Amino acid sequence: MNKISGRSIPDGLPNKMVIGGERVEAARGGRFATLDPATGVAFAEVPAGGPEDVDRAVAAAKKALKGPWFKTAPAERGRILTRTAALIRRDKEKLARIETLDCGKPLRESLGDIETAAGYFEYYAGIADKLQGDTIPLGPDFISFTLHEPVGVTAHIIPWNYPLVTTARGIAPALAAGNTAVVKPAEQTPLTAILLADLLAEAGLPAGVYNVVTGFGPDAGAPLTQHPDVAHVTFTGSVPTGKAVMKAAADHVASVTLELGGKSPVVVLADADLDAAVEGTLKAIYTNAGQVCSAGSRLVVERRLHNAMMERLVARAEKLVLGHGLDDAPLGPLVSDEQLKRVGDFVAEAKKRGVTVATGGKPASVAGLEGGYFFAPTIFDNVKPTDEVAQEEIFGPVLTVQVVDTPEEAVAIGNSTRYGLVAGIYTADIGKALRFARDIDAGQVFINQYFAGGVSTPFGGVKNSGFGREKGLAALTSYFRVKCVTAKI
Ligand code: NAI
Ligand code: MG
Repeated sequence: MNKISGRSIPDGLPNKMVIGGERVEAARGGRFATLDPATGVAFAEVPAGGPEDVDRAVAAAKKALKGPWFKTAPAERGRILTRTAALIRRDKEKLARIETLDCGKPLRESLGDIETAAGYFEYYAGIADKLQGDTIPLGPDFISFTLHEPVGVTAHIIPWNYPLVTTARGIAPALAAGNTAVVKPAEQTPLTAILLADLLAEAGLPAGVYNVVTGFGPDAGAPLTQHPDVAHVTFTGSVPTGKAVMKAAADHVASVTLELGGKSPVVVLADADLDAAVEGTLKAIYTNAGQVCSAGSRLVVERRLHNAMMERLVARAEKLVLGHGLDDAPLGPLVSDEQLKRVGDFVAEAKKRGVTVATGGKPASVAGLEGGYFFAPTIFDNVKPTDEVAQEEIFGPVLTVQVVDTPEEAVAIGNSTRYGLVAGIYTADIGKALRFARDIDAGQVFINQYFAGGVSTPFGGVKNSGFGREKGLAALTSYFRVKCVTAKI
């Protein structure tokens, strides 16, 4: 098969996992399909990995750590990462089409993701030979210095909403610092993590440094986090799974980075530029159909702009055309039947409680794509801060609107969930913006442009959104350990 509902599928879809440089089947022999979310049609198949495969992959990573990768000079590590960035860009059309087929997002977003993935390799390439330690002055009779060593074998558990980007975000700093890695992509979207193995090998990465075990969470993810030879686990996903990962890592005293999503507010104060606030809010909630950890899923608006914002947001949301990601539709499907049901349940329950539906509020049917997982862009107005849809991560195209009378109230509402990933604010008053940045519980604050920043800006959460930082130089602290050597001379 090389077409889905008339749309072409790239050649060369991966169908094996990658252990020690070999393309292999699962030890137990099982396989599972990955679906196109816009049609529900299976278009590729990969091995269903289990504990035996995790053991093999960790052993390969351990061997490479003390073998070829240990012997590779840091500057050469950097060159390999630089070449990887170029190869990702060379293959961007193919990678983007496969990413879109696997997770559903519009092609322009996948192309942006692929460019960001290349950007991570480029950014961390430059630091590979600059991770240097200190000398500590102890007086004339001692010499004391620190070494920055790789932590060892790192595990990367990847979600389905940003498959290649999240992989690159963890792998690039891990490899720059001299670690080796085992990646467990999400079962919904396993393909681009495998394709990355080919590009890394072509760039000169020794076999065993980057391994991919495909499979489901309990079968492949859990054994990886439990493995005694894994030194650090980088996890992005749900709060309950993040807690399980942390407990598993605790049993063998591995460190963890947890990036667990959010319920991030977009605050619009009365003095804001209305056009910018409308554009920013739409982007904050409808990018990747709202399946974004840092989605701005709560509009918190000062009363004077409430009606004007609502009028424009509803008009724009109702014009958003749903369609196939490969056609670069304005809005794509959700990733899976399960996610469609999850979003639908949140919305149906809210309607039962009498929460005001300003627009949307139900699954959408798209002509010619009847098997797809589409949900109508939805806006709930005048939502009580304690209501479930204002508290829980929905991970779909569902915006709640909360009205406030002062900037102080906006901070209080902003801080009223158990999450704290990001927060946005639109205002003409930089003092108000910076006081908000000071007072809000969040790992990052966007002022007058939602999603501002890039590969170099540290990213992570507070409260139930997790801890540890990815991106930027801050991410590196997870991937090296400091050894202090002191000599009496
Ligand atoms: P999940 O957290 O269960 O899955 C994320 C990754 O963890 C996948 O690779 C999965 O296979 C793996 N996993 C599952 N159980 C595991 C275990 N016991 N040990 C190790 N790895 C395990 O999330 P799921 O079920 O895909 O989505 C549910 C909700 O989670 C979404 O509706 C959304 O609210 C949230 N989520 C947040 C993300 C974020 O960007 N922070 C990304 C994906 C989901
Ligand atoms: Mg898929």
